[in-house]
Amino acid sequence: MIKVEKFQQKWDRKGTRSVKWDLTKTFFKDKDVLPMWVADMDFPSVDAVQEAITERAKHNIYGYSVTDQPLKDAIHGWVNKQHHWEINTDWLLFSPGVVTSLHMVVQALTNEEDHVLIQTPVYPPFYDAVKKHNRHVVKNSLQLKEGKYEIDFDDFEQQIIDHQVTMFILCSPHNPLGRVWTKEELTTMADICLKHNVTIVSDEIHGDLTYKEYTHVPIASLSEKFSQNAVTCMAPSKTFNLAGLQGSYLIVPNKDKRQKIKDQFSSQGLGMLNTFAIVAMEAAYLHGEEWLDKLLEVLHENKEYVQKAFHDNTNLINVLDSEGTYLLWLDCRSMNLSSSELKQFFQSKAKVGLNDGLSFGHEGDGFMRMNIACPKETVVEGVNRILAALKDM
Ligand SMILES: Cc1ncc(COP(=O)(O)O)c(C=O)c1O
Repeated sequence: MIKVEKFQQKWDRKGTRSVKWDLTKTFFKDKDVLPMWVADMDFPSVDAVQEAITERAKHNIYGYSVTDQPLKDAIHGWVNKQHHWEINTDWLLFSPGVVTSLHMVVQALTNEEDHVLIQTPVYPPFYDAVKKHNRHVVKNSLQLKEGKYEIDFDDFEQQIIDHQVTMFILCSPHNPLGRVWTKEELTTMADICLKHNVTIVSDEIHGDLTYKEYTHVPIASLSEKFSQNAVTCMAPSKTFNLAGLQGSYLIVPNKDKRQKIKDQFSSQGLGMLNTFAIVAMEAAYLHGEEWLDKLLEVLHENKEYVQKAFHDNTNLINVLDSEGTYLLWLDCRSMNLSSSELKQFFQSKAKVGLNDGLSFGHEGDGFMRMNIACPKETVVEGVNRILAALKDM
């Protein structure tokens, strides 16, 4: 039995080459800033991962490793059980990371000067995956209505028509907004894409991290037609805190698309996974379900705490409700600060390291993103620092 208390211990991550903890001073110009930024967790992974890696390391020979059938079966089992999607293991391709996959898929399935649709504000590498390959970004801005972000479907379709869009990169669930798209929303988007011959690339890296009342639905699982038009990127890295191991996969039911993506990976010399990524992915998927259930309880409690603390103590920051991910989107527009003043406030006055909303696109101006995947004590400290700084404003 995994206990919730397991997630309450504070671990010192400093000196572990952690981007989140060891680069705090570089990014926030102050070593005393409490890091609540980069999307990884301050929790140890599931024990089975440690055991599998330790067992593998005992062998101490790290030659090239195969992404073999047992690994594929573990993925199949996970996707089937968690997301009710019956995949064929022949559809799988492997990649060190989802960001790598986005770059590869854009190059494989679009041409230079093509237009690629994204829904902004969004995880910053989405822009790069398009722009760095001489393609153009087209935006469908998400609309904040009564505290919830919604899709303007008319604009979604109009942007596709106006720019002759050939690809749509979906963030599902959405980082940073925490939306878990409903079946209806996904179906509408998939129908429009099919109608206009737009390939969907669905980044579902946060798909396992949804709160109880919400269900993540892989867009490709909705129908055979949609699955032929979609490339799905998944990974155990957010779910089980394995980002540093660099292991992810793509699910590509369409044979032609799959071959093109495979060729793209191999043309960049990428075709193999890290030995430990393979071992960890398999162990997490075979033994991680109970751990994940507990993690979600802890994240839910942290989310409710942050929302209530700000709601009860200030009207300057409004925490939007998140349906999934361990990221919270803080609406700070009532503070009436410019974007640089807002950044300055959090890093120099509050001394809490958050991601600046503007980095997700202009729609994120006036917002900040907070990572709550840490022990409650850290969350409480972060919130208290911000509330104290607000009083001093
Ligand atoms: C939506 C999204 N995609 C991809 C990534 C990163 O994936 P990877 O580390 O596998 O490249 C993140 C990390 O925060 C993310 O939020």
